Amino acid sequence: MTFPDEVRRQARELIAARLGLDFPERRSADLDRALLRAASDSASRTLHEHLSRLAALPESDAEWRRLAAYLTVGETYFFRDAPLFEALERRVLPSIIEARRSERVRRLRLWSAGCATGEEPYSLAILVDRLLPDLADWSVTILATDVDVAALDIARQGRYREWSFRGTPEWVRDRYFRQHGSVLEVDRRIRRLVSLAPLNLSGESYPSPLTNTTAMDVVLCRNVLMYFTPDAQRATLERLRGALLDGGGYLALSAPETSVEGLQGFERVDVPGAVLYRQPSRLPAPAPPPSPRADAGAPAWLADAGGSAWEPTATVSLEPLVATGEQPATAAAPPLPGEREGVLAETRALADMGRLDEARRRCERAIAHDRLIPDAYLLLAAICQENGDVGGALDAVRRALYLAPDSAAAHFLQGCLLARQGQRLRARRSMETVVRLLAAVPPDERLPDAGDMAAGHLLESARTHLELA
Ligand SMILES: C[S@@+](CC[C@H](N)C(=O)[O-])C[C@H]1O[C@@H](n2cnc3c(N)ncnc32)[C@H](O)[C@@H]1O
Repeated sequence: MTFPDEVRRQARELIAARLGLDFPERRSADLDRALLRAASDSASRTLHEHLSRLAALPESDAEWRRLAAYLTVGETYFFRDAPLFEALERRVLPSIIEARRSERVRRLRLWSAGCATGEEPYSLAILVDRLLPDLADWSVTILATDVDVAALDIARQGRYREWSFRGTPEWVRDRYFRQHGSVLEVDRRIRRLVSLAPLNLSGESYPSPLTNTTAMDVVLCRNVLMYFTPDAQRATLERLRGALLDGGGYLALSAPETSVEGLQGFERVDVPGAVLYRQPSRLPAPAPPPSPRADAGAPAWLADAGGSAWEPTATVSLEPLVATGEQPATAAAPPLPGEREGVLAETRALADMGRLDEARRRCERAIAHDRLIPDAYLLLAAICQENGDVGGALDAVRRALYLAPDSAAAHFLQGCLLARQGQRLRARRSMETVVRLLAAVPPDERLPDAGDMAAGHLLESARTHLELA
């Protein structure tokens, strides 16, 4: 079957806008093949009808997901690009780990964006296992996302064939896999280190604490951008830049991707065997701790008896929230709404810089002053999540939901956290609630408690999670 030029043009535009994927003339045959397969799986009678249906559907719809799977190239294997993994193992990760040890912050956050069937994030997990003899004392997040939900499902099973090990050192198979006939199954310990989630890199759902895509030490986005349009490359890199730990996080691309559009905002870092990109600090250097006198100007509700806004204090523990919404007795004047938002934004910025303990203390102090701010609990939940404290995050989100039971953002975060804990049924219920809450909300409406994400994007993300659940 030949395609009318007009239909192909429409398809190209639609796919570029929704998935970022580029289909130049030379890839027309791939585009035609994928469209035909997707159209024949659907109820549409003509290609034109199929495109019109797709245009009206969100990318979370099964039709889009099927098309995405046909359009994308899922080629991957363990330790693909040996020099990069060597650079990560010998230089990049050890330097981050050493710095964290000296700061006494045992936290590491890695993200494989466009992880396909999981070989890349599991390779990262194996490196982490080798580099951290005291792994049990660390909070490690290895996020693995892809737009192709079927690929994520394979990743979740963690069962691979020989082909996934081409070029992989023998010790990897011996130490980290169990053989069942022709299938090699990744060690459970390694599997547990990786959190899988659907995420469209051309969408708006990152960087965001809700999708756990902030303050990353290292992001691997390899062999993905090369299939994107220049506009999508620029937009994706801008968002990935925001996902990196401010002033410290590294992005790794594949060798052919070092000429993609949009790398200007990064600092190039050459390490033997690899080129990485760093996010220069977006924020001015932190002010020195203010003297008690200078602190007099800080909002009273922030500079409470626990100390100044910037001074470490003992952790404020959360007391049970009482049904009456009882407030702590305090002499300080209540914050103005704008002031409160400003403090929460600053706290978020601290978390983005990786100063999670400080951010957490600030948040807890704000809560100790006024226990009725759902956004503060939501921020606390996000900070706990970034710190790997899933239990603490769930507790904070439950408190946010107590105060704001219709917060789609809070239900979404709860769903992600429950999924991370392996509570798939409960995670499903949370995502169903997000869908119910947002079904009638205009897709362009911004959700302040979801970091201003459009309602349509959060809805799509929830639907895609339901597909994976
Ligand atoms: C060639 S694989 C790369 C796998 C791995 N990163 C590697 O280098 O071995 C490309 C992956 O990018 C994913 N992808 C393509 N477009 C995407 C998008 N808009 N959002 C998220 N993932 C996408 C595909 O589904 C596919 O799994």
